Amino acid sequence: MCGIIGHVGEGNAIDALLTGLENLEYRGYDSAGVAVQNGSGIEIRKRSGRLSELKTSLLGEQLEGEVGIGHTRWSTHGPPTDENAHPHTGATDDVAVVHNGIVENYAELRERLREHGHEFTSDTDTEVIPHLIGQYVAEGMATEAAFRRAVGELEGSYAVAAMVSDERAIYAARQGSPLVVGVEDEGVFLASDVPAFLEYTDTVAYLEDGDVAVIHPGGIELTDLAGRSVTRELRTVDWDPEQTAKGTYDHFMLKEIHEQPTALAQTVEGRVDRRSGAATLAEFEPGDFAGIDRVQLIACGTSYHAALYGSLLLNDAGVDSRALLANEYGDRSPPVDEGTLVIAVTQSGETADTLSALRRATAAGARTLTVTNVVGSTATRIADDRILIRAGPEIGVAATKTFSSQAVVLALLADRIARDRGDDSPLGPTLVSALKALPRQIERVLSSTDAGAIARRYHGSRSYFFIGRGLGYPVALEGALKFKEITYEHAEGFAAGELKHGPLALVTPETPVFAVFTGEEDARTLKSAEEAATRGAPIVALCPADHRATAVADAHLEIPDAPPETAGLLANVGLQLVSYHAADLLERPIDKPRNLAKSVTVE
Ligand code: M6R
Repeated sequence: MCGIIGHVGEGNAIDALLTGLENLEYRGYDSAGVAVQNGSGIEIRKRSGRLSELKTSLLGEQLEGEVGIGHTRWSTHGPPTDENAHPHTGATDDVAVVHNGIVENYAELRERLREHGHEFTSDTDTEVIPHLIGQYVAEGMATEAAFRRAVGELEGSYAVAAMVSDERAIYAARQGSPLVVGVEDEGVFLASDVPAFLEYTDTVAYLEDGDVAVIHPGGIELTDLAGRSVTRELRTVDWDPEQTAKGTYDHFMLKEIHEQPTALAQTVEGRVDRRSGAATLAEFEPGDFAGIDRVQLIACGTSYHAALYGSLLLNDAGVDSRALLANEYGDRSPPVDEGTLVIAVTQSGETADTLSALRRATAAGARTLTVTNVVGSTATRIADDRILIRAGPEIGVAATKTFSSQAVVLALLADRIARDRGDDSPLGPTLVSALKALPRQIERVLSSTDAGAIARRYHGSRSYFFIGRGLGYPVALEGALKFKEITYEHAEGFAAGELKHGPLALVTPETPVFAVFTGEEDARTLKSAEEAATRGAPIVALCPADHRATAVADAHLEIPDAPPETAGLLANVGLQLVSYHAADLLERPIDKPRNLAKSVTVE
């Protein structure tokens, strides 16, 4: 986890570093810190808590330096204190380091360094890095050689950036954690993710595992760990800085919920043959999936719910498929062979659990594919193939628009795989008209919703339950995840028919039940809702206006008429809004819920 930033260039680096950290705060916000150097050594300022704490502490101070690094932390080793905040220094203050990842052999390295007289002042795994660099410099090595040797000894994952007193350079390396370089006329950036420096430059190069970068005001030298020169393509990203700003919305989450019609139009653009109704997906050659016997989808959190949605559609299209939690994917996973396609669904492309499952699938001989939002992310590099969901940057920790775009890409993929295999029932014609209508229908949900009133009506309840069947089941799970994640209230999602097998014992007048109707055996979902209503639970029905559930329900969140393939996605937008308004009433920090981070880069 964590976000790192570095800048070398003309003028004071502080503004660029703080802007970068603000744009990276979605990766963690337990503490923040910066280090700059101005010719008379390295100056470090760091604080536990949000970036705003650090900014306040800098008010009235003239901190200056043309070279600087910064960090925003999501704690893994040691609590979120000032001492554990990055940057960390070595035995002297001549080396400063920021790090994202986990040094698995830090205890062993600490022991070895202690034998050389090193003392440690934090609980972090990171602190060994500046000590190692300092040790090798003290032994007579040049800085670059010392840095290279130090990172070569790290086991685990890292994106690391180091500065050494009186050198106008940043030394950086990556292994398993993301790192991207941004090039502008006046200097060079280095960061965990592109939005960190997007308002300064859109010219970027993604570093790869094993890369070492030395960044000077005049440019970058890229090598591998052994010092051999490597080249990484410079590309222009087509994200607009406006896209990463909140605009007129109070929160990124609300903005991103409202971006869904546009995001989905981009997701589908050019990927469907409007005449035949077939998913084209030009990323793949015709017949590319002909030899696929079964599909396993691996993912975490919201992406797992999209994967579940996708696996149901694959099964509908005649393809044997299962969604599996990436963090459970291991020795007991279903077998894979050369006829197995493993699809890693990950918004960030950097989720450690998903990447590790992807590597396992590759090692077991499966063909792999990732469905992701981030160009150049690690998942895109380790999977055999990739499909971008094109949802645009998502800053709110709670995933919203990317769930919809993931589900739609998986629907297209289900159709395409079934066609390549020659299956009888590809989703095409139904899907294409449903997808065509989806952006407009989402706009209707967004403009006419009673979500705010429903959030107010059930404010203060003891628990919130979400039920659905078929394609409504992943939506129920997602509705509950979103609710608990941003409100901190207890919420659970169930397959509607499971209520009577246990959860019904929890149902009281203080447990509103949100029932998702997708048009698939709605009578059975309604029966489950009625069982809860009989025990006093208020029912909120997500269904079209003329649906018979409205007669039973206490409240109604209207969704437009749609086939099951997209009805769940429309209901999900309604549930996103309910969660948003409920969290707002409770004055929660909606975009940055406690204990969470946007991208979970630790297992
Ligand atoms: O980047 P990923 O899609 O791999 O992230 C997976 C989960 O961490 C993520 O979906 C998480 O559950 C969401 N923040 C929930 O809103």
